[in-house]
Amino acid sequence: MSGIYDNVLELIGNTPVIRSSRLDTGPCELFIKLESQNPGGSIKDRIGLNMIEAAERAGKIKPGATLVEGTAGNTGLALALVAQQKGYRLILVIPDKMSREKISNLKAMGAEVIITRSDVGKGHPQYYQDYAQRIADETPGSYFINQFGNDDNPAAHEHGTGPEIWAQMGEQLDAIVLGVGSSGTVTGLSRYFAKVAPHLELILADPEGSILTEYINEGTLNGKSKSWLVEGIGEDFLPVISDFTRVTRAYSISDRESFLTGRELLRTEGILGGASTGTLIAAALRYCSEQSTPKRVLTFACDTGNKYLSKMYNDQWMRDLGLLETEAHGNLRDVIARPLDQGETIIVRPDEPIANAYKRMKTYDISQLPVLSEDGELQGIIDESDILLAVIDCPDCFNEPVSTAMVTELHTVDVNTPVHELMPVFDAGYVVMVKENQRFIGLITRLDLLNHLRRSSGLD
Ligand SMILES: Cc1ncc(COP(=O)(O)O)c(C=O)c1O
Repeated sequence: MSGIYDNVLELIGNTPVIRSSRLDTGPCELFIKLESQNPGGSIKDRIGLNMIEAAERAGKIKPGATLVEGTAGNTGLALALVAQQKGYRLILVIPDKMSREKISNLKAMGAEVIITRSDVGKGHPQYYQDYAQRIADETPGSYFINQFGNDDNPAAHEHGTGPEIWAQMGEQLDAIVLGVGSSGTVTGLSRYFAKVAPHLELILADPEGSILTEYINEGTLNGKSKSWLVEGIGEDFLPVISDFTRVTRAYSISDRESFLTGRELLRTEGILGGASTGTLIAAALRYCSEQSTPKRVLTFACDTGNKYLSKMYNDQWMRDLGLLETEAHGNLRDVIARPLDQGETIIVRPDEPIANAYKRMKTYDISQLPVLSEDGELQGIIDESDILLAVIDCPDCFNEPVSTAMVTELHTVDVNTPVHELMPVFDAGYVVMVKENQRFIGLITRLDLLNHLRRSSGLD
């Protein structure tokens, strides 16, 4: 093998498998197939290629055609890659819970992206599938990919992923733990393994809130799903192409467990997987721990964690959702999102140029910075309007020191002040500076307080 390819599409599939050596897999051996190594970064590259090439072979798309899909992201990336290489226009309808990185990635690849609501279900005009179908109906010369109802989706796994796994595992495998999004993987692998290894168990890893766990374990379909944060898997309806007859057991995994397990996978095995990888590993570990005889179990790193750096791999984001354990102090420390003594408060020094304050606000997506002297003494605060006021008639003033633009009249409270007493400060349009033993320990914005109240409500 020369390792030289003529087209990036040739890199789809033939993904490597890692045997876990550091996770607690009980009596079992756990193998992780790195679908994250596909050129588009996920398992969906396989179906992106197969669904488009099958449509070409069937004469359903002509050169220059418009492809339309409703997608939770990864199928979009896969389609964008294939469409770009083959010269098709691509319109994608995406629910608004998808990470910014995914959307930027899609746009950079040339796809046209329409963002829609993620809090509505099938039948609602804003539901991403129905919306995509409507666009396809209204756009001449277009083809609705429809991964949820397209048989070329499971076919990619029946004829690609399945045989590949079987060969890699030396035809010795007892169980596969997988997630269900469009259900292409589960249906395709069911069909393949029914032929070559009917004893092999298919185990479902399902996010808490999805309807599938109850369907698999109890045979009932409640139809009522609750929302979850893990992207790409879980169901609020049964896709047309789904075939669950060979799935013997399902594990329901919370967002918290998924994210924390994903983070542990990175820490222990060095595998940077996405959120759903955490769900799958968590379910695989539960399955393994319940076995009384040694088994060979395979699961997937379905996509790469690069797409979730601002989410599950961001402590701040995890904490805002109450998904990371933090010590409760019973005072305003619990409300401060970026504590100074944990090195998380973004600050500026009074003698730094104003341009630095501006750059820091932009980088960290915040609108104000406390101004602290070298010895940690709080000197003032600078926000967007202070900067604007300083430079509006004097662009060179970006070079002036922060001390010339900062506000020194501060709204400071002691860490033991009751939360309700912060309201007048917010009402007057200020942020709250918190001190403990006369030392500045962090600031609180309205959003920080809202996040805190939301966490305390236990709704997340
Ligand atoms: C991110 C992601 N997308 C999709 C899927 C499932 O794929 P399918 O659409 O074939 O059900 C998985 C499976 O775990 C996944 O992790």
